Amino acid sequence: MEKLLEIKDLYVNYNTDESVVHALNGFSLDIYKGETLGLVGETGAGKTTMCLSVLRLLPEQVGEIVSGEIKYRDLDILKASNDQMRELRGAEVSMIFQDPMTSLNPIMTVGDQIKEVLDLHYPKMDEREKGKRVDDILSLVGIMPERKDQYPHQFSGGMKQRVVIAMALVSEPKLMLADEPTTALDVTIQAQILALMKELKVKFDSAMVLVTHDLGIVAKFCDSVAVTYAGAIEESGTIEQVFTRKENHPYTTGLFHCIPDLTSKAPRLTPIPGYMPDPRSLPKGCKFADRCTKCKDKCREMEPHMHEVEPGHFIKCWFSSEGSEEK
Ligand SMILES: Nc1ncnc2c1ncn2[C@@H]1O[C@H](COP(=O)(O)OP(=O)(O)O)[C@@H](O)[C@H]1O
Ligand SMILES: [Mg+2]
Repeated sequence: MEKLLEIKDLYVNYNTDESVVHALNGFSLDIYKGETLGLVGETGAGKTTMCLSVLRLLPEQVGEIVSGEIKYRDLDILKASNDQMRELRGAEVSMIFQDPMTSLNPIMTVGDQIKEVLDLHYPKMDEREKGKRVDDILSLVGIMPERKDQYPHQFSGGMKQRVVIAMALVSEPKLMLADEPTTALDVTIQAQILALMKELKVKFDSAMVLVTHDLGIVAKFCDSVAVTYAGAIEESGTIEQVFTRKENHPYTTGLFHCIPDLTSKAPRLTPIPGYMPDPRSLPKGCKFADRCTKCKDKCREMEPHMHEVEPGHFIKCWFSSEGSEEK
């Protein structure tokens, strides 16, 4: 399998006037061609920061990539020129934001906005071909091409998100970073949009990182999953490995307890007690220690390494089966 994206031991800070926020703390992740990876984790875990780092779109002055590596195929993202990055964005890697209005221009027709992506990436393509591509992608996302002369405000929330998806896909990117693309939408529309994205992903043979806090969505739409906590991955593996629940990181176990189980008679959900550590002053040992039922002295002293508990299934915990001899 061809590796598309490799993130290695990435540290990212936000330097504000008052403090330094440690948003990513040794974040590592690989994504392969054709794969759909679900990236889950609570608000503030660093999921958006990861996406923005890959495209080098962190807020200027404030966002800082401190160390680590990001490679897209052979391109070293942290060393690439601005021209190389412009080329990469959209044409190779595109991002879909949670709020469609982040990506849409309110005073430009949706057709022109989609065409603008083509202008940028295919300057030599003739106008008729561009027009045809705009029509095609609109039909593909379920919008009548006749509506291309309308403005974003004339579309409902779900329709706006379809326009954003059309914009993200018209250049046929190899990798989509979908940052909670349906969180702002109704549940029924959510399912439609996700099904559409999955279909288009197959059609264009692209890979996707689907950021979500919903494990149900991950189970339904993804091949693999990575669980993020306080700026790093705590567990990763295939859907089967993680969801069979033979062995999980205690945090992942906690997330599973937060899902309503319609088949059991469990009276209520058990949320994980406590909060994520303050990203301005992180503890030195395991970042989940304070909320963990298995926590021992060692956990507060030393950060655990990733252990491969079965081929392709990784858990960052001193008490995983593979790490346990080091207790
Ligand atoms: N522009 C910013 N300035 C300061 N802190 C930020 C900024 N953007 C994000 N953060 C902080 O970085 C951490 C990670 O945020 P984010 O990547 O948005 O997490 P997620 O997408 O998982 O909710 C959070 O603690 C958040 O408050
Ligand atoms: Mg986010």
